[in-house]
Amino acid sequence: MTVTPKIEMARYGAKAAAADSGVLPTPFPRTIGPNALMYLQEVVDSGLTVDMTDRFEQAFARAMGVAHCIATSGCTPSLHALVLASAWEPGDEVIVSPITDYGTVQGLIAQGIIPVFPDTEPGSINFSARTIQPHLTDRTRAIFCVHKTGLMVDMDPLLELAARRGIPVYEDVCQAIFSVYKGRTAGTLGHAAAFSFDPEKTMGSDVGGCVITNDDALAERIRFVGQARGGQMRPGFGRVHTVAGYAYRMPQCTAAICLAQLEIIREQVAHIDAMIRLQTDLLRQIPGIRPLAIPEYQDVYSCWMAGISLEPEAFNCSAGEFAAQLAEAGLPGAGLGKYYLMPAALECLRERADEQRYPYSMPPASRRFSYRGEDLPNAWGFLETFIRWSTFCAKYQPDDCRRAAEIVREVAERNRR
Ligand SMILES: Cc1ncc(COP(=O)(O)O)c(C=O)c1O
Repeated sequence: MTVTPKIEMARYGAKAAAADSGVLPTPFPRTIGPNALMYLQEVVDSGLTVDMTDRFEQAFARAMGVAHCIATSGCTPSLHALVLASAWEPGDEVIVSPITDYGTVQGLIAQGIIPVFPDTEPGSINFSARTIQPHLTDRTRAIFCVHKTGLMVDMDPLLELAARRGIPVYEDVCQAIFSVYKGRTAGTLGHAAAFSFDPEKTMGSDVGGCVITNDDALAERIRFVGQARGGQMRPGFGRVHTVAGYAYRMPQCTAAICLAQLEIIREQVAHIDAMIRLQTDLLRQIPGIRPLAIPEYQDVYSCWMAGISLEPEAFNCSAGEFAAQLAEAGLPGAGLGKYYLMPAALECLRERADEQRYPYSMPPASRRFSYRGEDLPNAWGFLETFIRWSTFCAKYQPDDCRRAAEIVREVAERNRR
């Protein structure tokens, strides 16, 4: 009998963040909008006949100023539904931000679409039109653009490039809800966008997500393949499945909490923006420490995760040791962010691509692919010295920002070369 070796399973999302503790706020226990109980009561009192999910969809679409919101069970299923609705073929390519969560690419992988990861801009956590350009081929079908930590990608050049190539841009707004770029809200710049309402996210519910778009046909198709399981009615027979679809619907109780959270999110994001700008200013004053830079073009930074880069020559310890000391001193969840580098983390694709197994066989692939951190020197180098700490949330007050900067300063002085 073969014995399966025990593996240490990785936690993610709320499960991973719930354990974070320290002397600074964490999102848990979550602040919940005051109307949540009333909406939940409606769901129960109606015997589950209330239209809470529709109500949330309409409210979210209105808040974003778009025609459609399709509420789902998470951002990962939202993006999977978007991929299914796009009807790409195995071996087709989609450009994806290299520093992101697995949820961004799961739908692509499931459908045999090849994620292609350009490098980031030097010193940045995001990619750009410039770094994407060399990766565009006649097999490129779309660009998946992640606004990492809430910092927005420079969208105008990227949208221009995509328009020139005739391909859509889909935004992953999980970490950037209500961030604003040159007066435009994250998620409304591309052709469609996906959100997460996982408990650790800025608009956290118990789970959940959605897709927004102004494209009527795309919205209809997402509902068909992502929620109606690709099922159509045939007269005299009943349901047939013309596409292998999925049932990614947002439950009514989740919608009740999401609706209540939506009512308080704008105020929370305005506060988060003010606090992260204060904290960034304080951290910038510490020699050898570079907080994540907030670009000029970003009007509102809905920061989900704070982070700093170390100038390695300034300190006599590694970034890992520095992060461990920050955590010890009370910075919740302080740690390295290397695991966010998808080409390095996707070992399942590395093996497939190296061995040219489907969909990396040729055909359907038209060329060879490689998934290695070293292929992306800017992103790899950036993450070598980058330290993030757990969720930045609306509970931060000016004293917390000062405390965070003090902790970083103390650890910096202790390890200064
Ligand atoms: C950028 C990004 N994309 C996708 C996801 C997946 O979201 P969900 O857990 O709602 O599926 C996450 C969650 O951490 C994320 O941060």
